[in-house]
Amino acid sequence: MSDEMIPFGQPLLDQTEIDAVVKVLSGPILAHGPVCMEFENAFAARAGAEHAISVSSGTAGLHLCLFANTVGPGDEVIVPAITHVATAHAVEYCGAKPAFVDVDPTSGNINPEGVAATLNERTRAVMVVHFLGLPCEMDSINAAAAKVGAFVIEDAALAVDATYGGKKAGTLARAGCFSFYPIKHMTSIEGGMVTTDDAGLASSIRQRKAFGYDRSHEARVKPGIYDVTMLGYNYRMNEVEGAVGLAQIGKLDERLKIRRRNYHALKNALAELDEITVFEPTQGKAQSSFYCLNAVLPRDGSLDRDTIAAELKARNIGTSVHYPGAVPLMTYYREKYGYRAGQFPVAEWLAAQTISLPVAPHVPDDFVKRIADAMKAAIHKTRMAS
Ligand SMILES: Cc1ncc(COP(=O)(O)O)c(C=O)c1O
Repeated sequence: MSDEMIPFGQPLLDQTEIDAVVKVLSGPILAHGPVCMEFENAFAARAGAEHAISVSSGTAGLHLCLFANTVGPGDEVIVPAITHVATAHAVEYCGAKPAFVDVDPTSGNINPEGVAATLNERTRAVMVVHFLGLPCEMDSINAAAAKVGAFVIEDAALAVDATYGGKKAGTLARAGCFSFYPIKHMTSIEGGMVTTDDAGLASSIRQRKAFGYDRSHEARVKPGIYDVTMLGYNYRMNEVEGAVGLAQIGKLDERLKIRRRNYHALKNALAELDEITVFEPTQGKAQSSFYCLNAVLPRDGSLDRDTIAAELKARNIGTSVHYPGAVPLMTYYREKYGYRAGQFPVAEWLAAQTISLPVAPHVPDDFVKRIADAMKAAIHKTRMAS
């Protein structure tokens, strides 16, 4: 068995991306160009969405979805208590208040009853996060939000190709936001995509990602002449990023198959370890995109995450944590809003007691045995020490 280093995540690029990038760099258009448009069309077709708008990052997409819907001071936006901080930051960028809701212990997804209990007349939006790629319970969340006239945005950063009732993530609410950060399901180096079926919202996001210009480059009859009809940002994806993203789409089917196979193989191997829980990747109508496998350690702290991570590292296996803290307890949010430990028990447990293991297509065939052996050794060590 090799002991070659297995990183937690690794971008998978080959000559296809290199050729596509060289072609862009050899031409005259590096921004505002046709490659991003081709990428958008291909992504929309794959997701089954009417519109896809490329953006400079997943975070930019989340911000634009709220901003284009005029979320602002005095508004509340419901956000899960465990997510990447980008989800909550997008609300802060708009001057609105994130209303944190705890998550479900069997999925890490926002708790629908918690959403229903938190919705009020100030709630403008609900941002669901498909935790590690498993879609949230969209039927009940969409219905509850509709009752108070709030709209729902999917943070689908880790949910490329995940499905709910057969529909792809990104088409399950008013809009969906994807991230193409290097170690996601697919990459465009940095970058993201917003999907929506709402033509008005798509056009507003398109305008607001480019300073609020009233016409695109192609639509400018007189070169350099435009008006600005709304506030906007510079949140465009460039053509090099678009070329990388476009080249990656064609590889997704094969890669999802590998992720699924790896997830199940590792889940089976860990099944004999009674102390460890692994989320089911199919729950109700939701089917995961298998971003990674979170090994959930006992709530009582009887297994030490640091010991396990150290054992895996010693055996050249990279791990990660999703996410390193409940967002309301991160210093910025705690100091601003006064949250205290104990208010989000499930999010706090997952933040402290889960370890993320790699299942992406870069892992070698012997990874299951290597990871399972390391976990067993680490558990043994922890037991001996206690
Ligand atoms: C759930 C979630 N939302 C948003 C983001 C931010 O995406 P980006 O890094 O493309 O801005 C991430 C990044 O990891 C994420 O995990």
